[in-house]
Amino acid sequence: MAKQPLTLYLAAPRGFCAGVDRAIKIVEMALQKWGAPVYVRHEIVHNKFVVDGLKAKGAVFVEELSDCPTDRPVIFSAHGVPKSVPAEAAERRMIFVDATCPLVSKVHIEAQRHAENGLQMIMIGHKDHPETVGTMGQLPEGEVLLVETVLDVATVQVRDPEHIAFVTQTTLSVDDTADIVAALKTRFPAIVGPHKEDICYATTNRQEAVKAMAPHADAMLVVGAPNSSNSRRLVEVGAKAGCAYAQLVQRATDIDWRALEGVASIGVTAGASAPEELIDEVIDAIGARYDVTVCTIETAVENVEFKVPRVLRAAE
Ligand code: F3S
Repeated sequence: MAKQPLTLYLAAPRGFCAGVDRAIKIVEMALQKWGAPVYVRHEIVHNKFVVDGLKAKGAVFVEELSDCPTDRPVIFSAHGVPKSVPAEAAERRMIFVDATCPLVSKVHIEAQRHAENGLQMIMIGHKDHPETVGTMGQLPEGEVLLVETVLDVATVQVRDPEHIAFVTQTTLSVDDTADIVAALKTRFPAIVGPHKEDICYATTNRQEAVKAMAPHADAMLVVGAPNSSNSRRLVEVGAKAGCAYAQLVQRATDIDWRALEGVASIGVTAGASAPEELIDEVIDAIGARYDVTVCTIETAVENVEFKVPRVLRAAE
């Protein structure tokens, strides 16, 4: 039977960002430099496939520093860690490498600078996400107030409305965050913050590409993990931008083909922690079922690259 024709839209940019690329490289280079096992505190990036690949090479993933022996190196994930974590590692005289994305570190520095200037911090982010925990943990407990929604803005209790500042998680929805920032500025006109927000280039670019693609696609597949904040935002952005059906898939076997019955076009994108292999797998699975015409929707070209920490550069 002849395959049904289908237009396959590919969003660009999609997939790995410079921070994820660097974090994975850090683990691989640490394994080269120190041999296995190398410990990694928390999933280095939110993707099981990446984590399993590194496990096979000798990385051991743990949730807490106390789960690591002191005589092996430990790496902190791309999401960043509270200040107490490197402090504890130093106290235990451990070798540690910080794989925090430089764009997250920049937010950490911002938060500390504001606090030093006597401003109380508000963080716009998702409760319990490791990045939010890490950024809030740059200051003593209770110093940073968390705001997740526009509704939270109405009830947040600040010490002095004239002396407050905000930072944001880097992987939020650009539009939802703009609404929260606007609400904060209305309630606290003196609030200090970044020019727009701290959402990173990769999150912004992937959301822009999805916004351009979604109105053309009958359905959309986002390759990414359920615990990946930026991937989940892509599903929401696609749905809001007019795509009737948007599904988060970790890999091809997750695709709900029944839900795609009758569609004439599918859009594919991927979160910043989804490896190219899994994106290709999804594209190939679509190609195996349909007579595909590929159309790339490119809204930005990325050429960002981050250096690995100096301690590993000799292994490059
Ligand atoms: Fe960094 Fe943004 Fe990627 S903060 S890890 S470049 S999603």
